[in-house]
Amino acid sequence: MSRTGREILLGVGGGIAAYKSADLIRRLQDHGYLVTVVPTPSSLNFVGTATWEALTGRPVHSQVWEKVHEVPHISLAEVSDCILIAPATADLIARIAQGRADDLLTNIVLASTAPKMIVPAMHPAMWNDAGTVANVSILRERGFLVMDPDVGRLTGGDVGAGRFPESLAIIETMNGFLSHISDLIGKEILITAGGTREPIDPVRFIGNRSSGKQGYAVAQAALSRGAKVRLISANCDLPVPQGAEIVRVETADEMNSSLNEYFAYSDVLVMCAAVADAKPTTLSNEKIKKSELTTLSFVANPDLLASISQKRRSGQIVVGFAAETSNMEVHAREKLKSKGLDIIFVNDVSGGAIFGSDETRGTMLFANAPDLDIPSTSKDTLAHELLNQVVNRLS
Ligand code: C5P
Repeated sequence: MSRTGREILLGVGGGIAAYKSADLIRRLQDHGYLVTVVPTPSSLNFVGTATWEALTGRPVHSQVWEKVHEVPHISLAEVSDCILIAPATADLIARIAQGRADDLLTNIVLASTAPKMIVPAMHPAMWNDAGTVANVSILRERGFLVMDPDVGRLTGGDVGAGRFPESLAIIETMNGFLSHISDLIGKEILITAGGTREPIDPVRFIGNRSSGKQGYAVAQAALSRGAKVRLISANCDLPVPQGAEIVRVETADEMNSSLNEYFAYSDVLVMCAAVADAKPTTLSNEKIKKSELTTLSFVANPDLLASISQKRRSGQIVVGFAAETSNMEVHAREKLKSKGLDIIFVNDVSGGAIFGSDETRGTMLFANAPDLDIPSTSKDTLAHELLNQVVNRLS
């Protein structure tokens, strides 16, 4: 059977958010998608078969015992370009994580090789329960895109993470997921982003201009290609990409500890963060009086990237960034060598350019290939270009 690129199999789980999937179907159709609904038997308590048949113009089944001669779980698995499960309950997530096949939907999930996306909706206590957390992580490791639920008011009045996202947010996430080949499934990527801050006293610090946008763009791009992403984020004020595990740090020392904790589990390290080269020799516990704030003395921070790359095992890829104001390629080639990197991206930040911008430009240098000039482009595009180079080297 041939695929059209537009066939969505919408699995509906037994949560009250099932009624919101009626709107999701309409919005999917507005975007040119053709939708077949496969509800779980328990979801029919919330929304019945007739609603789904009327909205999609297609027959709706929930059990493998209907139309057995047509082997529906295999035929639906074969024609679907994406399996979108929205809403997914804690029980449905647990059944899929276990590889169970006790209704039509879970049979199709097992039989299909199409990309699979899950939109959970449940009470925050259930979403945060260790069992659900473990099941979600199993699914992400297997390449499912699991959206984080929205935070807000839930049925019953409680407030927290568990709300079903808006239809358009679901479709946007799905479009991003489908537009990239999933060439990083099964890979773990560790990314640092932002700029470290070195405290002087309880109110002051030495910092830098890094916004974290490039690191967050790499995290988003890696997630959309199926990677498991850990993002060590230093002082960034940006939304966390769906599905990334976030580790928040402030200083270079904290970033160093996190790098040492997670590097061994990673296939790739992308070190986008601007790390302070030095920190004040002493940290005052009291706010320093204006009159005493005349000189500061510094002690050097370690080079985190240079030291972690010495601990790499064979097959791990290490990527650095460099911000320069002159002789970009010369300095970058030196850093590529001295820090033991596979790839370094260097950009010219003269006059404060690039910091905080959505655009970037520069040169990618490699340990084993000619340089690649990157003319002005978005940080998202650079992120994908960088990951293309990483994927080549991983294989
Ligand atoms: O500051 P420099 O140009 O040497 O930074 C190049 C790369 O080294 C960046 O990827 C940065 O994250 C990393 N770096 C580091 N520790 C430092 C300074 C820089 O890991 N103390």
